[in-house]
Amino acid sequence: MTSSTHAPRITLVAGARPNFMKVAPVLKALEHRANVTLVHTGQHYDDQMSGSFFRDLEIREPDVSLGIGSGSHAQQTAGVLVAFERHLTEAAPDAVVVVGDVNSSMAATLAASKLGIPVAHVEAGLRSRDWAMPEEINRVVTDRLSRWLLTTSADADANLLAEGEPPSKIHLVGNVMIDSLLSRLEAARSAAVQVRAELNLDGAYSVMTLHRPSNVDEPDTLRALMSAVTSGADGSVVVFPVHPRTRYRLLDANVNVPRSMVLVDPLPFTAFIGLVDGARFVVTDSGGIQEETSVLGIPCLTLRTSTERPVTCTLGTNELVGTDPDRVEAAVASATTRDRAPANIPLWDGRAAERVADVLLHDLTDG
Ligand code: UD1
Repeated sequence: MTSSTHAPRITLVAGARPNFMKVAPVLKALEHRANVTLVHTGQHYDDQMSGSFFRDLEIREPDVSLGIGSGSHAQQTAGVLVAFERHLTEAAPDAVVVVGDVNSSMAATLAASKLGIPVAHVEAGLRSRDWAMPEEINRVVTDRLSRWLLTTSADADANLLAEGEPPSKIHLVGNVMIDSLLSRLEAARSAAVQVRAELNLDGAYSVMTLHRPSNVDEPDTLRALMSAVTSGADGSVVVFPVHPRTRYRLLDANVNVPRSMVLVDPLPFTAFIGLVDGARFVVTDSGGIQEETSVLGIPCLTLRTSTERPVTCTLGTNELVGTDPDRVEAAVASATTRDRAPANIPLWDGRAAERVADVLLHDLTDG
């Protein structure tokens, strides 16, 4: 923990895998200007989903671990609410910073708001308008309660303004996850050489990730999607790093894996980015991967009917394909012929976390 008599005290919250690549640059940018306490809620807790990311992204050990673990949405949310309130009561920070849209971010925001502690939301304003996504509920609640709305793109600003947020709360800072991507790109390309060797990938390959309940919880749906992707890829290898939720479903239902699909454990950030960087195309239902592929210029097929990140479709490489297996197969077949085309999205320049720190430090220290 960095300490200085006049430095503001800030609690930064990390909870689940997609948080860690956002927390790393924000922590780095804040640490020499504020007294930062890093709290890990423990929503993701094992080495593959958490520990390896802390090592890979060089995030220091958390100052506080809440140890919440898995459970239903209510259990996770309630666990963070109670434990984080206890932390806040003891630490009494000047501000709390949360990133992204996971249950931990929303619960931490709620606990802080009830204690009158202002919250900064990094990645505010994204909207899929799909209320069946738990993340959409988390995004809306977190934004409504936050004092600082730090956004990645102009469409997020427009969403917040349309919901009645005053312009003074909204700050377009860019994409902190892209800070992590750009700072690790060289290391990622080196790591990829080893990953490709381990997987015997000597020709063209693609990458797939699926973990959304709507795509993986029903074995027939999962089976049909896997088969549509491999048929569309016409025998070329599809590497599938498998999220724990998906792994449980595959094992539970004894789902057959198509021959050209290679299942691997979740990869650390740097190795994953390296693998994506060398892929012909990516098939995913993740939010963050739509952004990473856009910056890398790799064609991305998103197996969802909506996205909270429309800028990845308008300026990036993302295509919303939906989940109809025939349409997925056709989209994959056509992606095999698409060229690499890196996107240039305003403020996705590797310096977003510095702008986050500038906004917060300006307000917390009166200039
Ligand atoms: C959570 C986030 C989602 C994010 C995803 C990325 C919410 C609402 N969802 O969904 O936005 O895209 O993480 O990974 O916050 N598990 C492990 N080890 C772990 C963590 C989880 O084995 O370290 C298992 C759990 O036991 C559970 C499953 O993975 O069975 C799902 O984990 P959970 O955190 O509940 O939700 P995700 O589907 O990962």
